[in-house]
Amino acid sequence: MLGTCLLHCRSPAVSVPVTNRRRRIHSSQGRKLVFSLMEGGGLNENFGFLSRKPYVPPEWASHLSPIPSHVFSLGHFPTPVHKWNLPNLPKNTEVWLKRDDLTGMQLSGNKVRKLEFLMADAIQHGADCIITIGGIQSNHCRATAVAAKYLNLDCYLILRTSKTLVDKDPGLTGNLLVERLVGAHVELVSKEEYSKTGSVVLTNLLKERLLSEGRRPYVIPVGGSNSLGTWGYIEAVREIQQQIQRGPGIIGFDDIVVACGSGGTIAGLSLGSWLSDLKAKVHAFSVCDSPDYFYDYVQGLLDGLQAGVSSRNIVSIQDWKSCIWLAKGHG
Ligand SMILES: Cc1ncc(COP(=O)(O)O)c(C=O)c1O
Repeated sequence: MLGTCLLHCRSPAVSVPVTNRRRRIHSSQGRKLVFSLMEGGGLNENFGFLSRKPYVPPEWASHLSPIPSHVFSLGHFPTPVHKWNLPNLPKNTEVWLKRDDLTGMQLSGNKVRKLEFLMADAIQHGADCIITIGGIQSNHCRATAVAAKYLNLDCYLILRTSKTLVDKDPGLTGNLLVERLVGAHVELVSKEEYSKTGSVVLTNLLKERLLSEGRRPYVIPVGGSNSLGTWGYIEAVREIQQQIQRGPGIIGFDDIVVACGSGGTIAGLSLGSWLSDLKAKVHAFSVCDSPDYFYDYVQGLLDGLQAGVSSRNIVSIQDWKSCIWLAKGHG
């Protein structure tokens, strides 16, 4: 699940009954196509899935630059927002969840938001294959491999593993099973080699090799977190805003709490929240590098969009270990 949102609201959400219907469509050749339809989704929306569309940013983000020209529809949006009944919450506090785990199972939940922009860019550049990099069980790598398959592109994954396993078959466990089912090429690198060489050089070396073989590779960085991928979470803010406008009795969120693994999610959420009238404070818990590392990294993403804002002013980042420390009663 992606975010935890805190808010004050007037009334609980009302659930809308969902029914299954079957529809028949007759094509011009007289062929009969039958499919199931979940009520609530329009036919046009269903046919928009896996299509590339011109992108129009929210008005409040229209001064950012560069603005992506296209977006590729890979996920099922909007994802639900619902109340989560945690015990012992402070008075007048509610916790709501934004269920980005429900964007479509094969694409690994929240990862798809950045990929919608990155894959559209890959197509725009005439790529015939995608390169990305991450840990041996990286959800981002799995999502990229599946997205590449949807788009009929080859996918090359560089996966980080321990020194003892780097020359062994990584097997078919967890995300590797999905990656191999969709035909991704997997190359292993030891953690030591990864830290010494760095992800940018490793992906560029593979890119050079593929170029020399006549391929047209497109490189996606760790976690899909570059300035272009950041648009995925600027869009998520637009989605949350629309849900607040349409939702029964939700008046707004004060805070958004989210994990930070490669930085793109908090860059988009905090910039979108700051620019739009959502104005929720974004709190991030870094699961790997230090808060200082991520303030700098997010600053680079914001500068890449000419946002003219300091990361330290729009997001608060803490090391997740400090929270475990507090939760154990040491703070
Ligand atoms: C549930 C969840 N939230 C947030 C993130 C952070 O994403 P990012 O890599 O953009 O920092 C991740 C990624 O690992 C995640 O799995």
